[in-house]
Amino acid sequence: MQTEDPAIRTRASAWTPKETLPGRDYHDPAVYEADRSRIFHSLWSCIGREEQLAEPGDYLTQELAGESILVTRTLGGELRGHYNVCRHRGTRLADGCGHVRKVLTCPYHAWSYDLEGNLVGTPNVHEEEGFDRAAHPLWRVHVETWAGFVFVNLSDDPPPLREWLASDPDNPLWFDKYRVEDLRIGRELTYEVAANWKIIVENFNECLHCPTVHPELVQIVPIYRKGEVEERDGWWGNSLADGAGSFTTTGASGLPTLPGIDATDAHTYYGFHVFPNVLLNFMPDSVMYYLLLPRGPEHTTVISNYLFRPETIEGVDGFEENAGEIVKFWDLVSRQDWGICERAQTGVRSKSYAGGGVYPFQDRLLRAFNKRYAAVRGPVA
Ligand code: FES
Ligand SMILES: [Fe+2]
Repeated sequence: MQTEDPAIRTRASAWTPKETLPGRDYHDPAVYEADRSRIFHSLWSCIGREEQLAEPGDYLTQELAGESILVTRTLGGELRGHYNVCRHRGTRLADGCGHVRKVLTCPYHAWSYDLEGNLVGTPNVHEEEGFDRAAHPLWRVHVETWAGFVFVNLSDDPPPLREWLASDPDNPLWFDKYRVEDLRIGRELTYEVAANWKIIVENFNECLHCPTVHPELVQIVPIYRKGEVEERDGWWGNSLADGAGSFTTTGASGLPTLPGIDATDAHTYYGFHVFPNVLLNFMPDSVMYYLLLPRGPEHTTVISNYLFRPETIEGVDGFEENAGEIVKFWDLVSRQDWGICERAQTGVRSKSYAGGGVYPFQDRLLRAFNKRYAAVRGPVA
């Protein structure tokens, strides 16, 4: 039996309809440039998981809103962040993830860089030129980790990542108890979505669409039938259906519950946005994250990775089958979301929508996201 805190009803009755962002914020190239420079290239943004570069000599590259970033694991085990740009003539140094013994070599003229980013090899450049390699290391970016996620910051002097997260009004550090840093990627999916990144964030933060778009999901999370994402005032958990402990069509997975979570969490789903580009889904037996990588004003690559305990991935009988059911269920829900996000994107370009739309109370999280977004981004001419 789902209960709904009367305080929610009280707040709903005090709500007056609010404006959405204007249509141009979802398609205008000038707004996209502001999103790139003032958000993705100024704040801490996520680009991947630490396990993707676990060993000394490993590297990870990722395109973050038009800037290719290279993170290396030094021989001493530290992470270093760099622009993935050769100091000679700008060539992209590396692709994907990989491993080198000691140096990364540019595929153009074979200049090489150690894992700290120092330029250590410049074949056929003559000593007598007086060329100073030490003056030409890779351009650095800040890199830090939280919960096993690799975050980069392209600004000059960012706050420490944890301080930044602690100041987040949505309190992502509350989820430290899930010990996501101990989990490992068991499945990786990638989607190309023809929608602005903010449409995807907004869609994630409301469930007015759930009864129409997600008939299977509302069976597992009954509160969604009401178009609501908050069950009790100020508590962002959503109770699973009676007897359910996972995100599958039956509500069961056969996987063990994650360590460190309590009895309530064992039948609760939490969905959470880490501004700007991570959407986290906490289930009793696994965690799934969406990593949003904007490609343009109307295109976002969404990486959807499923995290499990390493011993679950390696040892438990039936992992393939059990994890497969979770992935199958989420993949269905994800595709339903991307389809409707793409459809929303087609309308926000209309001149009729230039002034935007309207938020009822159930869209209050979107309003909060928009206010935060607008404050960070500032005006665009
Ligand atoms: S551009 Fe990289 S070595 Fe020339
Ligand atoms: Fe959805």
